[in-house]
Amino acid sequence: MSYNDRRRFIKLGLASSAALAAGCTDAPKAHTSTTGPDRTKGPLILSTWKHGLAANATAWEVMRTGGTVLDAVEQGVAAVESDLTNRSVGLGGMPDRDGHVTLDACIQDHDGRAGAVAFVQRFEHPIRIARAVMERTPHVMLVGAGAERWAEENGFSRRDVEIPEVKAKWLEWLEKAEYRPVVNIENHDTIGMVAMDASGRLAGSCTTSGMAFKIHGRVGDSPIIGAGLFVDGEAGAACATGVGELVIRTAGSHTVVELMRQGMEPTEACKEAVRRIIRQNKDMQDKQVGFLAIRADGAFGGWSVYDGFDFALRTNDREELVPTGHDRKWVG
Ligand code: GLY
Repeated sequence: MSYNDRRRFIKLGLASSAALAAGCTDAPKAHTSTTGPDRTKGPLILSTWKHGLAANATAWEVMRTGGTVLDAVEQGVAAVESDLTNRSVGLGGMPDRDGHVTLDACIQDHDGRAGAVAFVQRFEHPIRIARAVMERTPHVMLVGAGAERWAEENGFSRRDVEIPEVKAKWLEWLEKAEYRPVVNIENHDTIGMVAMDASGRLAGSCTTSGMAFKIHGRVGDSPIIGAGLFVDGEAGAACATGVGELVIRTAGSHTVVELMRQGMEPTEACKEAVRRIIRQNKDMQDKQVGFLAIRADGAFGGWSVYDGFDFALRTNDREELVPTGHDRKWVG
């Protein structure tokens, strides 16, 4: 990092506290919060699951070296997309019933600009295509063959990956043609990331290979703005993980952000969104859903249906996995 980059990073962190000390009303709200278990000052990143630790490390480095919070959330989850040992994100993910790995992703910035792709195959970084859709087209979402053609025309190359372990699992599934999701133990699913930079600007990203052995063509919550991800710089940012159908039906991430807009603490907002899902679904067996949220004032939190949902937290002084509160204990 150059001297100027370092100065910029430090300056961003100091600017709002200085403004606050001077009584400046323009100081970002993120820095008016007191520190506590669910508040922070300075850059803040939350990501779903254990794979979020690696994503956060990449995203943190991007911000530390002068990148924007949007760059950070893109590159953070892209690092997980590149990990071919990950079975729920990127080309290493589990296939659908026809043996195809199909990918979904979206990204949104502080001002609500958004891009998404769904049902794309043989691209390493759907999140990068999603950002390009946001920045280079008048649209929000491209899907399937059209998205793939547009991606190739815009400089994204196909990548073919065959992983024997994944193929063996698919063949095994074909034999039984049944799949019972393991709610918590797998400790992985979509990666959703929400982040705030030192000036209080927010961004979020979400990317997944979706539900294993889904029907070919199925799209979950992850690429859908308002479901898997929602960012509104005035109110906050939220992302979701778990059974996408349940999140879509309740516009889950949008619900969380709107509840925070009304003044709810992030953890309470995530809890209420989870409880709407529980109220709407009599049978929650095998159906995990979790939300993470950052409010515009820097408060943050999460909640899930079942225990076992950890999120990766990165701040100036914390780099750890944090278990969310939950409504139910998973007994299998
Ligand atoms: N949450 C990921 C999916 O349902 O596809």
